[in-house]
Amino acid sequence: MPVIDIHNHFFPRTWPDLAARFGTPDWPWIKHTEPGKAEIMVGDRFFRHIYSACWDPEVRLQEMDRDGVDTQIMSATPVLFAYERPAEHALDCARLFNDAALELCAQGGGRLKSLCQVPLQDIDASCKELSRCMRAGHLGVQIGNHVGEKNLDDPGIVTFLHHCADEGAAVLVHPWDMLGQSRMPKYMMPWTVGMPAETQLGIVAMILGGAFDKLPRKLRICFAHGGGSFAFLLGRLHNAWEHHPIAHGVCELAPAKYLDRFSVDSAVFDRRALEFLVGTMGAERVMLGSDYPFPLGEHGIGQLIRSTTLDDGTKSRLLGGNALTFLGLEQTQVAQLPETKTGGSKPVMPASDQLTYSSYLKVPELLELQHPQSKPEHHDELLFIIVHQTYELWFKELLHDLDAVVANLAAAGRSPESHDDVYEAARLLRRCTEITRVLIEQFTILETMLPTHFLAFRGKLEPASGFQSEQFRELEFLCGLKDPKMLRYHRPTPEAYAQLDRRLREPSLHDVFFGALRAIGKLQMQEDAEESDRFAARARAVLSLYKDEHRYRDWIDVCERLTEFDELVVGWRLRHIQLVERVIGSRMGTGGSAGSSYLKLTLDKKFFPELWEARTLLTE
Ligand code: HEM
Repeated sequence: MPVIDIHNHFFPRTWPDLAARFGTPDWPWIKHTEPGKAEIMVGDRFFRHIYSACWDPEVRLQEMDRDGVDTQIMSATPVLFAYERPAEHALDCARLFNDAALELCAQGGGRLKSLCQVPLQDIDASCKELSRCMRAGHLGVQIGNHVGEKNLDDPGIVTFLHHCADEGAAVLVHPWDMLGQSRMPKYMMPWTVGMPAETQLGIVAMILGGAFDKLPRKLRICFAHGGGSFAFLLGRLHNAWEHHPIAHGVCELAPAKYLDRFSVDSAVFDRRALEFLVGTMGAERVMLGSDYPFPLGEHGIGQLIRSTTLDDGTKSRLLGGNALTFLGLEQTQVAQLPETKTGGSKPVMPASDQLTYSSYLKVPELLELQHPQSKPEHHDELLFIIVHQTYELWFKELLHDLDAVVANLAAAGRSPESHDDVYEAARLLRRCTEITRVLIEQFTILETMLPTHFLAFRGKLEPASGFQSEQFRELEFLCGLKDPKMLRYHRPTPEAYAQLDRRLREPSLHDVFFGALRAIGKLQMQEDAEESDRFAARARAVLSLYKDEHRYRDWIDVCERLTEFDELVVGWRLRHIQLVERVIGSRMGTGGSAGSSYLKLTLDKKFFPELWEARTLLTE
């Protein structure tokens, strides 16, 4: 299946002086600043930095190769729509850029295709320009989500969309001319807040304004940026629709019933948001859109889709299958890269059901999970990411093994005569200690990073911090160190929060181990005893095992492994502190703690203090 990016932009290398051509100010123009770089200006105002991928097909194709993208469907940029200007000027402008798009496509070896633009303030002129463009080779049209005060349910715009459906033109709706700009003069808020709201407004207007009821089902329409805020706020829309007659609009059905009438692109920049979007819209209604090559676009086109936990079939639909339907193309009509040119970045889909090394281990997906934040990318940030990721993978294995140890010890408590479960617990605990040994060693790799190099990208990490390592905290909780206060670091991630909350409530390894000692008759204590007495009873229980070595050799082995694990985890904490001091000295952590001085307080934490206490008792 080809990989098709349906939302990306171009600017020609140059174009006529539109202000002079139409005798009106503030038209966009391009200022080349240095080789391969330019600025888009609107009159005297700076609008955006761009680079040669916008106008040079060779650069674009190289970057598509790098990212494993077969085909791009390019469109111009909303700043060129000119809907607020005289229609004849907007039409002339549209023609210029529509023809320029086809010239670029002609140099794209069949891998570049385009959507045209139309003067949407004039419906007749728009219909004519669309028809001209479709005959000339465009695959559809990019329109803004409104024309002045007119939303997409405006009768004129509905007529135009009808014409698109008849012409078989794909329609990409792009937000523009954002609302409330007087309140968003700073921080790019028109892009980050205004655009998603505009897109949502476009969709809601079409639904409640009855546009979808009037338009034929064959209309293929897609909203950029994942449909903006629409999917996330669909519940709110539905709630209003159900409980307030004035929120009904003139549509025939409930809002959610129109989800099969439009698509959205994948430009949401967050894995969980994309998975949620697919859950809401359906796997056949989301497709790859990158906003390339603009600064707010996806860097590493398609990585977001590939990084999801969606199955391979769904990923392949999102990456290209759905775009074929949207564009009305057969697979054979789209140029496809030979596999070798994609640099191994595409997910491997074996032709038959046979497993390969890569498909079994999900190697391509794994290799796509590193997303440095520094720009330009700092060489050492990849190391920083990979080291942390390997820790998390080993944490996963530790949890897996320790869960099994808990199950074995619980079983040993249920059948005290059987030794199998005790042996198995000791065997798995040995694996845990070996893994932890590796985890301690691994810090040295990170220490090859100079403190100055870390500081060069540390600022990009805040407020991400090891405090938010869900699995580390799970390990602590699972072993018996349950501190509910630590849950607060996981509020931003409800799934992690719920998982930790579950761990808090479940019996820990500590609970199960001493439960088993009680079941085999080694631990006796009153239920209502003081904690200090209970602690002493537990230590004595351990002591009694050691004192009867011949009989309890298997249990002693478990005790030794648990002790070693405890010791190694303290070793991990210590090496982590040394690393922290080596890299950031005594600075505060990105998670807001006092840094190494806070971490030193954790050195006294032990999972099984009774095992250590038993040693004190032994020496008496
Ligand atoms: C340059 C390297 C590192 C630095 C400067 C660093 C710094 C810190 C600091 C300052 C804290 C305290 C919390 C805070 O305020 O953010 C912390 C906690 C933590 N870090 Fe690191 N860290 C580094 C590498 C690592 C690595 C490789 C791991 C591996 C998983 C890791 C795992 C953790 C964990 C689990 C915590 C929480 C510890 C606890 O609450 O007991 N850190 N780190």
